[in-house]
Amino acid sequence: MKRAYNFNPGPAALPLEVLEQAKEELVEYGGKGMSLMEMSHRSKPVERMMEETRQLLAELLGLPQGYQALFMGGGASTQFALIPMNFLAADRVGHYVLSGSFSDKAYQEAVTVGEANVIASGKADKWRKLPDVGELQVDATAAYVHLTTNNTIEGTQFRELPDVGDAPLFGDMTSDMLSRKQDWTKFGFMYAGAQKNLGPAGVTVAIVREDMLHVSSERAIPTILKYATFASNESLYNTPPVHSIYMMKLVLEWTKRQGGVAEMERRAALRTGMLYETIDASGGFYNGFADKEARSRMNVTWRMQDEAIEKRFVQEALQNGFEGLAGHRSVGGLRASAYNAVPVEACEALVQFMRDYQRRNG
Ligand SMILES: Cc1ncc(COP(=O)(O)O)c(C=O)c1O
Repeated sequence: MKRAYNFNPGPAALPLEVLEQAKEELVEYGGKGMSLMEMSHRSKPVERMMEETRQLLAELLGLPQGYQALFMGGGASTQFALIPMNFLAADRVGHYVLSGSFSDKAYQEAVTVGEANVIASGKADKWRKLPDVGELQVDATAAYVHLTTNNTIEGTQFRELPDVGDAPLFGDMTSDMLSRKQDWTKFGFMYAGAQKNLGPAGVTVAIVREDMLHVSSERAIPTILKYATFASNESLYNTPPVHSIYMMKLVLEWTKRQGGVAEMERRAALRTGMLYETIDASGGFYNGFADKEARSRMNVTWRMQDEAIEKRFVQEALQNGFEGLAGHRSVGGLRASAYNAVPVEACEALVQFMRDYQRRNG
């Protein structure tokens, strides 16, 4: 099999080594005469696997004491709703920084639950720029400030975190968790759907600072939708997405073998650096979508002269083994999502293809 150059935005590339290992262990796990998927989630092998995954995640991220990682279902979108349900009391307000369509969705979900407002927005700039978060007006009654650290669709990323005073900062890190060092102490809560850097779809990691578990929205919410339920039951209150968690464990082990988050950060700069250089050196044949200062190290977005040439680019790229390069329908153009498992060589090959395409069509 020739592996595709996989630039899918999520679900996204997984390391080949991880897939091979999963294949090896698919039919029988730990000499038990059955696969992991056939075991009770209350069995020792599953409990151990979950505990090891939790520890490895904390170790790789460098989580300080007092933070707990929960494994949940429902994708990051479910977190948009669970956050206000759990943390937004009737006499408080949830502040939202809008930097892309996913942050807008998070906000739209919050207003169905309680009072939420927008304290900074890049919508007027069509999300090309990050909103100015230099002097945020954070209310004394703020339950939290919600921020999307990397905007997957638009290809922008916050490199610096805003000062939110005493309010807890909440981060949607779906598309950049595990790709760079982060000052976790600034966050009261952060979450990521696994399907970018962490593993396959099906599990969502929610990391909660333990004091936040005592914050109550005083809303009558079902037990299964409470973070405290997951925290006090080690994410085993009900049947967790065992196979997805197991795959995440393999991805985390691979990440550690590669050199951890520092190495992931170095590779991300290298991968996206060469793509941005190619765009900038093209004399306007390729036009970066995101403002230069806001550029993401995960998702590189660009436009071309017209839609017809963009379509042809995607088609020809596909014929040459490059998958997933069409931009999101809301932005158009092209997008190369280069998450942790995308080899640097895939970006080198894409650079060659882009230069060659320009030579033939420029
Ligand atoms: C930043 C961000 N937030 C939220 C989501 C939604 O995730 P899910 O599809 O897991 O609900 C995505 C999906 O790509 C995302 O990139």
